[in-house]
Amino acid sequence: MSSTEMDAFVEKVRERSDIYSVVSRYIPMTLKGGRYWACCPFHGEKTASFTITPDKGLFYCFGCHEGGNVFNFISKMENISYFEAVKLQAERLGIALPNQKKSQAEIQKEHNEKILFRINELARNFYHNVLTKTAEGEAGRKYLNSRGITGGTIENFKIGFAPNGWDRILNEFLRRGFTAEQVMSAGLVSKQKNGGKFFDRMRGRVIIPITDIFGHVVGFGGRILEDSAQKDAPKYLNTPETEIFNKGSLLFGLDKANKSIFSKKFAVIVEGYMDAISLSSAGFENVVATLGTAFTEEHAKLLTRHTRKIIFCYDSDEAGQRAAFRALPIVGRFDADVSVITIPDGKDPDEFVRKHGLKEFEKLAENSLPIFDYRLQYIIKRNDFTTIEGKINTLKKILPEIASVKDSTKVSEYCKKISFMLMLDESLVSNEFKKFSNKPAVIQTTKEVKPSQEKSLNYSEVQSEEVILRMLWHECDMVPYVSEILQEVDFTEVHAEIFSYLEKCFKNDERPDDITAGKELSEKAAAEISRILTNGSDDPKSDEISVFEDSLRELKKIHLKKLYDETLKNANKCTSSDLSAYVEKMQETLKIKEEMDRL
Ligand code: UTP
Ligand code: MN
Repeated sequence: MSSTEMDAFVEKVRERSDIYSVVSRYIPMTLKGGRYWACCPFHGEKTASFTITPDKGLFYCFGCHEGGNVFNFISKMENISYFEAVKLQAERLGIALPNQKKSQAEIQKEHNEKILFRINELARNFYHNVLTKTAEGEAGRKYLNSRGITGGTIENFKIGFAPNGWDRILNEFLRRGFTAEQVMSAGLVSKQKNGGKFFDRMRGRVIIPITDIFGHVVGFGGRILEDSAQKDAPKYLNTPETEIFNKGSLLFGLDKANKSIFSKKFAVIVEGYMDAISLSSAGFENVVATLGTAFTEEHAKLLTRHTRKIIFCYDSDEAGQRAAFRALPIVGRFDADVSVITIPDGKDPDEFVRKHGLKEFEKLAENSLPIFDYRLQYIIKRNDFTTIEGKINTLKKILPEIASVKDSTKVSEYCKKISFMLMLDESLVSNEFKKFSNKPAVIQTTKEVKPSQEKSLNYSEVQSEEVILRMLWHECDMVPYVSEILQEVDFTEVHAEIFSYLEKCFKNDERPDDITAGKELSEKAAAEISRILTNGSDDPKSDEISVFEDSLRELKKIHLKKLYDETLKNANKCTSSDLSAYVEKMQETLKIKEEMDRL
């Protein structure tokens, strides 16, 4: 292609690209004051300072000063070169690339691919029609319904049903002038070993179209019905590898999840497309699935183009956990921020979200375990560490994990964690690490955890509560702030009653006052609040605000310390036969300790 041809091509694509459509494919925009605004995808922000100028086809962010045309935008979002962005946009608009000097083989390959795309698209329409419009589709509809997959989701993923019979899809294509060989090259039919007759691969299965990042259908997954007569048939049947279907480099749902991944800034990866469909239909859309194969470097490359924050959510059985364990270092190599969700009950994400709902799944994602902690837990759970030899052996298995970490503060943090989990001396762990890696592990020795004595205000629990209640009496609007910080912390008896009263005042948008307090509170509580109020001034000054903040922290610390002691006691109660429980309890204690350290 000559450079003028090239320029003309780029210009043509640019002319036909509408910046609004391009941008809104990735981020939601709102119309305000005659302009479209969005939170900038290129730097973290809470208020929108990213805007577009549709008549010029440009975008600009007032926050980070990033700006440019549609191709700059796509290239940044997809992490691809400018020219790749042009090609991608041309592809999306259906504009053909100008003729390039291609070898005969390349021309042939492109031609074959085109036919394969066409066949897959037609097959998807056929299966989808059977499911949604025919009596034969009833079995499929019933099955999907029983899994909570209904209208909107069936449309969104264009789910279908392969009717029973040996030559249904075959005849469909022969009728349209395709050859049986062509249909076989798309993986839709197979050939009998003896006799050489062609027959449909998918029969009596719910069909899930599998698309590439452009949304082209490249293959299918077929789920057998629960009451299928096909004995010994596998539960899932996927399209075999074809020229356009390669399981190792495809992530199911990526084309649809794209937008949500960008707005939420992370992706969840699950093992099966049914899990992805189920989560997506529950409203958790930033999810992709592997296709029944191990997670590969190709997958990592594909996904990290969209986000560096990746959360694995594999089945909670041993096989799923092992798969997650193996996948982690692969993504780790891409400098991604990786963590793991372990489903607490139910086998997989699909079951979990159907049983507990979207909110609970979102909580799991929020609390996902960082990669290192997960691997640590995984190793500890599977090794004996009740004896000192066991502990050292476990330690030896963990050390290689740490040796691969470049960040020295991380190394130190990890060594600390290990010594805590294995209840080994920190200097022993750091010595072992030194021996193993020839690198020093600088560990700042931590003090015994005595949070209520550090930075002590010498305020008792009750005194702290008094300060907080007094402040809330004057500044009732701070109720939600206090609730947010204290969360599960309970006030002591009478104070709890006063706090509920203040909460109620806030909810009803009323100011607390002596008269209603006298009416609504018990005698004891009413007397207590009078006492508290006489102890302080009417108008909280700035130093009172800092006392108030300290009191909040103090109360939280006291609560955490109690929780910490209790969990540690429970951990120590676990017997050596119950390692999992022990590890979980220790991990809990560690979390509490970290929270205390933050305070
Ligand atoms: P699972 O057996 O965990 O399936 O296999 P699932 O996703 O929970 O399916 P349901 O909920 O029973 O319908 C996980 C993945 O492994 C692949 C599929 O991609 C599946 O989603 N698999 C499983 C196969 O390819 N073939 C099989 O026979 C089974
Ligand atoms: Mn399942």
